Formats: sequence, structure tokens, C-alpha cells
Amino acid sequence: MERSSSPGKIHLIGEHAVVYGKPAILAAIDRRVFCSVFPSKGIRIFSQGFGSLYSKPKDCIDFACLLTKLHECGEFKRLFAEVRRSPSASLKALAGKAMLELGTEDGFTCKIKTQITPNSGLGSSAAVSLSFVNALSHNASGKKVRDASLEIEKLFHGRPSGADTAVCQRGGMVWFENRRVTGLKFVKRKALLVKTKRESTTGELVSMVRKIDRRKREPIMDEIASFAKEMRGAVAKNGNGKIMDIFNCVQSDLRALGISTEKTDSICSIVRSNGGGAKISGAGGGGNVICVHDNLRLLRKKLSGYDTEIVSLGERGLI
Ligand code: MEV
Repeated sequence: MERSSSPGKIHLIGEHAVVYGKPAILAAIDRRVFCSVFPSKGIRIFSQGFGSLYSKPKDCIDFACLLTKLHECGEFKRLFAEVRRSPSASLKALAGKAMLELGTEDGFTCKIKTQITPNSGLGSSAAVSLSFVNALSHNASGKKVRDASLEIEKLFHGRPSGADTAVCQRGGMVWFENRRVTGLKFVKRKALLVKTKRESTTGELVSMVRKIDRRKREPIMDEIASFAKEMRGAVAKNGNGKIMDIFNCVQSDLRALGISTEKTDSICSIVRSNGGGAKISGAGGGGNVICVHDNLRLLRKKLSGYDTEIVSLGERGLI
């Protein structure tokens, strides 16, 4: 049996801006996806949180070929509808595309366990793709695993920047710019996640931001990029003050892009009025709000009406 596990991630800064070639800083968190794979007749996937799949290798591969064609033709609406038709369709896309990328038609049984809520800005799909490909591919190189995972991500999100895949594979904290990843020096710290309980779909939010008039969008992206440079220095030092200030400024930029929600805004305002910093993590449209504060237990009490959890940043990558 082959086993693998991948962390989820949070965006400290640069979501959406990274799609336009601006830098982003991401951190791997201590919430993971675990995959185990062993050879069997046919394809069977059992997952906690994503449903199950019973299929034949050829059916999975044929489905992945159809989805790949839709992606190549830029027919994202139909692509997303096919992939999200049912939980088993998503698993079929995952299995078929991984088999295509790895050049295998052998049957297998896979078990997936997750600690990461899907579609909530925590890199669930990158963590599932990476751990699945890594467990399925035996001794494939890190590059092969990353490339295959990113090809799977394209079926789920259209044109992902690759930042989620990069940080989940590498772990720690990373600077991601123009498809290049660099490990960052950082001081270990914790953050509070507040769930808005509203799921979002990355591909659709990215398309929504793309439709904003360039003259409005570009200055916002430039501002986020200049905050990213400041964030790079801030994560390397003790103390949360600078990070909190940047979070609050960037959250108003993200709100101006239309990807915040009323609930996100009211959580951020509670955090700000209690002396902390808060922002969306990832695509937005709900998901998790990430909060930094010198006293996270106290902040958690102030947010007692919400579902919250404390996570560690800068954790181990794909294993
Ligand atoms: C999604 O986690 C982050 C986005 O920047 C999209 C991407 O990087 O592909 C919104």
C-alpha cells in the first residue's frame, strides 16, 4: 500500500493578484489530506467528505479526455458543470486525469481522509490532487507529481496560478510569482480561521474579477503587490503588528474587487475592533476568514458565535 499526505494552505497575501503575475505569499497549515492506494480490479475510491466512486479504468480515462478537450477549447462553463455534476463525477475526473498524466491504466483502490473543508479557501483540491497523485505514482519525481496535480487542478479551476499546488507540495511559507516558487524565511505563528459556512468556486470568482474594468482592477493589484513586499519582511520577524495592518488594508482591496461577502465583512470588523487583522483566504465569496492577533484565545472568545479553529502556519509539505 502506498500512502501520502498533503497540507492545506492559507494565503497571507496575493490571492487573485497572483493570477495577473503579481507575487503571493502562502503558508502550509496543520490540516491535511491523507491518501492510501493499493492495486485492485477496477477503480474504487472511498472518501470521507467527497463521496465514493466505483468505475472502470477506461471510463475514468474517457471522462478525463472529454474534460481535457473542454479545457483546451476554453469551455469552462460546461467543464465545471461536468466536473461538479456529482461527487462521483469529481472523483472520476481526479482518477482519470491522474491516470492519463501518469500513463497507467491499472485498477486501484484509494481511501481519502481529509481535515480540510472543500471550497473554503484552504487549498483542499490542491492537497487532494497532490496526495492522490503521489500515492498513485510510486516513485515519480517531485516535478512529475506537481505537474500532474496542476493538470488535475485545471479541470476543477480553469486556469489556476499554481500557487496552491506549490505551497502544499513544498510546505513552510513561499513567495510565488510568475509560476516560480521560492521558500521564505519565517517565524512560526498561529492564526485563527473563522468559517463563513459559504462555499465558493475558485474558477468562477477568478472569471468575475477578470471582468472588472482594467483601469479599476490594475491599481488594486499593484497595491496588493506592494503590500506583498512588506509582508515578506513581516513574516520573517517576531510580532504580529505589521501583518495585522497589512491584512486590514488588503481586505479592503479584496472587498473592492467584489469577492468579500457581508458575513466576511462583519467578521473582519469584529476582529479589527478588537485590535487584530483579518482577511479572506483564497478565492473569497465566503470560505474562511484568516485572523491574526496577539491573543488568539481572547479573539476566539469575541467570535464565540462563529465556528473557529486555531491553525499553525508554515507546516510540513507533501510526504
Ligand atoms: C485560489 O486559492 C487563489 C486564487 O488566486 C486563484 C489562483 O491562484 O489560481 C484566487
